[in-house]
Amino acid sequence: MERTLVLIKPDGVKRGLIGKILTATKDSAKKHYSEHEGKDFFEELINYVTEGKMCAMILMGEKAVDAARKINGDKDPIKAELASIRGEFTLDKTHNLVHASDSSENAEREITIWFPELTCSSEHTCDEKYKGTVDLFAKINGPLINV
Ligand code: CDP
Ligand code: MG
Repeated sequence: MERTLVLIKPDGVKRGLIGKILTATKDSAKKHYSEHEGKDFFEELINYVTEGKMCAMILMGEKAVDAARKINGDKDPIKAELASIRGEFTLDKTHNLVHASDSSENAEREITIWFPELTCSSEHTCDEKYKGTVDLFAKINGPLINV
């Protein structure tokens, strides 16, 4: 067993190769969390996710939905497994660091909000859309992100 250190160097961050850096508008945040509209934590949640920049990424792989949620841990950090992100780094029920879609259907709905350019439409097959997802080299001449 060995460990390794990975740094995304400034050019990688600036070129957006870590995912898309975005600031959520209230409208986008409300769309993303529409299932929670009306709940007592909704307003605090929307204020939280719009208070600064987020990094959005699409991960692909076998059981990507379940795997990402396992890495994140339970939404209640007290219940989250200790080796999970939430279990290790937060005790706050709202400020729980990370999000991961809870189903493929919701993932596609959420991707539409944050990556409209990668949305599956009737003219584009999912294969074409997925090609766009992994095409980091296309960013060589892409816009720089001011972080
Ligand atoms: O994020 P996850 O899918 O695990 O949980 P959720 O039930 O879909 O809740 C969405 C987000 O709302 C959580 O990640 C928390 O940030 C927040 N939340 C909260 O502030 N208080 C609660 N009682 C439940 C959720
Ligand atoms: Mg959820």
